[in-house]
Amino acid sequence: MEQQNQTLLQVNNLSVDFKVDRKHSLHAVRSISFEVKRGETLGIVGESGCGKSVTCMSILRLNPERRTLYPTGEILFEGKDLLKMSPRQLSAIRGNDISMVFQEPMTALNPLFTIGDQLMEALRVHNPHMEKAEAYEQCLKAVENVKIPNPERIMKTYPFTLSGGMRQRVMIAMAMVTKPQLLICDEPTTALDVTIQAQVLDLMNQLKHEVGTSIIFITHDLGVISEMADRVIIMYGGRICEEAPVDELFSHPLHPYTRGLIDSHPSPDYTGDRLKVIPGSVPTLQGMPSGCPFNNRCPYAAADCGDVFPAFETAQPGHCLACYHWKEEK
Ligand SMILES: Nc1ncnc2c1ncn2[C@@H]1O[C@H](COP(=O)(O)OP(=O)(O)O)[C@@H](O)[C@H]1O
Ligand SMILES: [Mg+2]
Repeated sequence: MEQQNQTLLQVNNLSVDFKVDRKHSLHAVRSISFEVKRGETLGIVGESGCGKSVTCMSILRLNPERRTLYPTGEILFEGKDLLKMSPRQLSAIRGNDISMVFQEPMTALNPLFTIGDQLMEALRVHNPHMEKAEAYEQCLKAVENVKIPNPERIMKTYPFTLSGGMRQRVMIAMAMVTKPQLLICDEPTTALDVTIQAQVLDLMNQLKHEVGTSIIFITHDLGVISEMADRVIIMYGGRICEEAPVDELFSHPLHPYTRGLIDSHPSPDYTGDRLKVIPGSVPTLQGMPSGCPFNNRCPYAAADCGDVFPAFETAQPGHCLACYHWKEEK
């Protein structure tokens, strides 16, 4: 597809620090670069605490404003740097060109308003001149698109009357009602049971094909990523350690962290044998090792791994990783 080669979002050398006090700050995300093409789904994978949410919240500048520093970097959306935009310019984009779906839909819905009111608000805030009747039609269509039975009735109900799966569908409807160019999903199905999760994922893929929306899909679940992503980046310790097209990543994982994740994930034909676990745990920001952040858990670590973070190397076109020892037999 011709459309797929156009860059929609380009993140260059982004770092995010959190202030601890007036003099000190901690690095949460370090010099990461990636892009999202039009119409593609980019998966971001890593254990909890690796910097996935901080990265995505940076795109819409949703990290707590007073504590967050963006010491370097650009986030170019259609060529314009979101980090340089005024709050007003940014709010014109937020929820309109770029929408976000979070893990816990209840916190994003207002309990005091009906689903219909909230959908209409989401649409009309960016289209103030739209007639009410037309807004209603579009919202109803958005609810139908996410396969909620009885959409007219749902428009009149309040969030607490809905199940978790239905609420997450409402959130997706709300995120999609403005037909965004980029949808950011941060563990959108983690709180749902497996059957509902599969339905919601199907739905998102369907909407992606119909509307042509690009998606950034964050998860710690490799099974989900194999269904959703075209391309994947693996994050660890606020760094990107590997990037590859999804099939290549699963067939030829190269970074020891990626291999560890895959070995510790039950495959579809999993028979109940013990899975390998990656020893140790994700470092806190205070306890981040120098050099490669994975070096204290890595079975292949050598003395040089603790010095400086390794440069990115290209193993195959489109497949890159940051590891000093990946070429040695593993
Ligand atoms: N507002 C904040 N202030 C300080 N530290 C934060 C803040 N938000 C996240 N962190 C820390 O940044 C690291 C990355 O967090 P996060 O991006 O939420 O991880 P995840 O990959 O699970 O989404 C974690 O160590 C987390 O504790
Ligand atoms: Mg997170």
